[in-house]
Amino acid sequence: MIDKINELSRQVEAFAPKTTAEIEEFRIRLLGKKGELTALMEAFKGVAPELKRELGQKLNALKTAALNRINALREEVGRAAELQAAAAGDLTRPGSAEELGSRHPISLVKNQIVEVFARLGYTVAEGPEIEDDRHVFTKLNFAPEHPARDMQDTFFIERRGEEPSADDILLRTHTSSIQVRTMEHRKPPIRVICPGRVFRNEAISYRAHCIFHQIEGLYIDEGVSFADMKQSLLYFAKEIFGEQARIRMRPSYFPFTEPSAEVDVSCNLCGGKGCAVCKGTGWLEIMGCGMVDPNVLKASGIDPEKYSGFAFGMGIERIAMLKYGVRDLRLYFENDVRFLHQFDKAL
Ligand code: DAH
Repeated sequence: MIDKINELSRQVEAFAPKTTAEIEEFRIRLLGKKGELTALMEAFKGVAPELKRELGQKLNALKTAALNRINALREEVGRAAELQAAAAGDLTRPGSAEELGSRHPISLVKNQIVEVFARLGYTVAEGPEIEDDRHVFTKLNFAPEHPARDMQDTFFIERRGEEPSADDILLRTHTSSIQVRTMEHRKPPIRVICPGRVFRNEAISYRAHCIFHQIEGLYIDEGVSFADMKQSLLYFAKEIFGEQARIRMRPSYFPFTEPSAEVDVSCNLCGGKGCAVCKGTGWLEIMGCGMVDPNVLKASGIDPEKYSGFAFGMGIERIAMLKYGVRDLRLYFENDVRFLHQFDKAL
């Protein structure tokens, strides 16, 4: 019996199958009902008591070794077969469905806004996110001591000194810098819409983020009036919020426009009657605007005696929040697919 055990142990060790069928055949030959190892187990019952201990241990060791080897080989051969099938392009393998993505709500709204102004003859202009003070502040008529230039708001990359300098390098805090770049390079008539990412040193909360998106608009030509601006922005509001939308303008201040205004749109949730979203006023603030200050035109080489124009700027997140009823700004940046999938069917 000991010889037989040794012989089978050698076979187990030397066994090198190529297919799972060979492994199964081997298992049955050893461990099947009429298998050789099964027969040895059976014969063990009749072994003399003084030999039982040694033979029993050997038999058990053989059985464990055989089972382990069979299991290990099954995995190995299975994996090799899979790799081979993949390399050969096994046409019987089940296909894997490609998941379709959807556009991010910020892109959706940006595209809609760009489209609305494209119908009015505006073309898209872009500019760098890393800017100099000259394009973000100085040429937009910001006084050197203006608080918006402060470290509290602006992420600086390189400062020339303690005092603000037009050569300071920073992350743009608004897309109005693209206005300046456009005026520097083009002659009126100018009609551009400028989408982009902007950066401000703000604590992140449901209503503020240090990175967000804006769209800037600029129209310069001979004889452009405040009435032209009002009509263009009313058209925009109706296209984005629906035919029933109305706008109102409140006097405001920006260094780069004179006069300046804040634009409100009638609350699309309560229809202007007053609700929690519009805080009972019936109006929602959507953008800033104004007639381009003559100093801004002059700074970029456009003659303010001949030309006039208007500009406006809005936060895309804010428009998207109002349009889709999103209450927390952070949702736009977390990219939780449960949030994003809600926009699958949007335009
Ligand atoms: N740049 C302003 C901001 O970031 C928005 C703005 C207001 C842009 C009035 C304009 C404008 O072009 O005329 O808050």
